[in-house]
Amino acid sequence: KLIPTILCGGAGSRLWPVSRELHPKPFIRLADGQSLLQKAWLRGAVLPDVAEVLTVTNRELFFKTEDEYREIAGATFKNLPNSFILEPFGRNTAPAIAAAALHVAAKHGDDALMLVLAADHLIADQNAFAAAVAQATLIAQQGKLVTFGIQPDAAETGYGYIETEGTAVRRFVEKPNLEKAQEYLATGRYLWNSGMFCFAAGTILREMEQHCPAILAAARNCMDRAIKANGEGFSQVELTPDTFNLVPDDSIDYAVMEKSHNVAVVPCSIGWSDIGSWNAIGDLTKPDSKGNRIEGEVQLHDVDNCYIQSNERIVGAVGISNLIIVDTPDALLVADRSRAQDVKHIYASLKLQN
Ligand code: GDD
Ligand code: MG
Repeated sequence: KLIPTILCGGAGSRLWPVSRELHPKPFIRLADGQSLLQKAWLRGAVLPDVAEVLTVTNRELFFKTEDEYREIAGATFKNLPNSFILEPFGRNTAPAIAAAALHVAAKHGDDALMLVLAADHLIADQNAFAAAVAQATLIAQQGKLVTFGIQPDAAETGYGYIETEGTAVRRFVEKPNLEKAQEYLATGRYLWNSGMFCFAAGTILREMEQHCPAILAAARNCMDRAIKANGEGFSQVELTPDTFNLVPDDSIDYAVMEKSHNVAVVPCSIGWSDIGSWNAIGDLTKPDSKGNRIEGEVQLHDVDNCYIQSNERIVGAVGISNLIIVDTPDALLVADRSRAQDVKHIYASLKLQN
């Protein structure tokens, strides 16, 4: 049995103003009309032997998420159950995965395989992805924590790095500094961690018991005291703030992957992108003859190499180059294309003021 487990939490601050606290990155819709979250759900739902799709998200996002799933499930997936674990606030991915593993072990048994998926990634080649998952499930059945390794092409500091030795994993390093990342890239032995994982529920629970027992114990306490509800095809477990408050904040990468000696990797070439910035979103649309990438109603005169997105109004631009312009009804972003990573600072200062 396979349980795709979708983690939907981060605000995606580099994609302000479209990505906000209550409209985070997974809900961004791409040109084909589907949101990143819907794509994640479909990515898991179409795999063989799926028993249910489990989503761990903030309780404020529950109805929105449910709507998104209903919209795409249609007749094809009408019998596929959806379960939700709802958090009162974010505590990063380790607690979310601990709660998910406890749910899966209780409902489907320790041997049930979890496929942890991020809600805000793009995977262009579904067939290659399905093949990688098939390979991962075989390794996960042998009690490994399986990662999906992406061939790196830059010294990105926002990713985890997996050091390989032949087909084995030597170690996992989460978000190294630039110097280290450049060093890793130069050796040719490192892969990027895609942020997706495959393991048996029993395996991850054992590993957490060993490497982050406080998180596991606190998550268990939460799950024991959670409020449970059932609707047609949807079941919810709502974690309460008084218990979730006691859970330490950490990511699975630091809490388990860096410490475990049990990590394996499936190297894969699946057209993976974590849509980290407006430049990555821009790359999804076709450039015009001057390198402009446009979404919405935009009028240009002597403009080159810009990404411009209009939502409700017409945007006119004259004589500019290398800018990102994103217009929404209540906020406008203007940024240099080379500074796309720094948009998060706007998000952070607005958050401080509110
Ligand atoms: N439910 C829930 N609760 N989900 C969360 C939370 C939380 O508190 N925090 C993050 N998530 C979700 C995000 O929405 C995203 O889908 C996924 O978990 C990963 O979290 P990120 O915050 O985006 O992690 P990251 O990008 O810094 O790093 C991870 O992904 C990289 C690849 O994109 C790591 O696994 C890196 O090693 C990896 O390279
Ligand atoms: Mg991410």
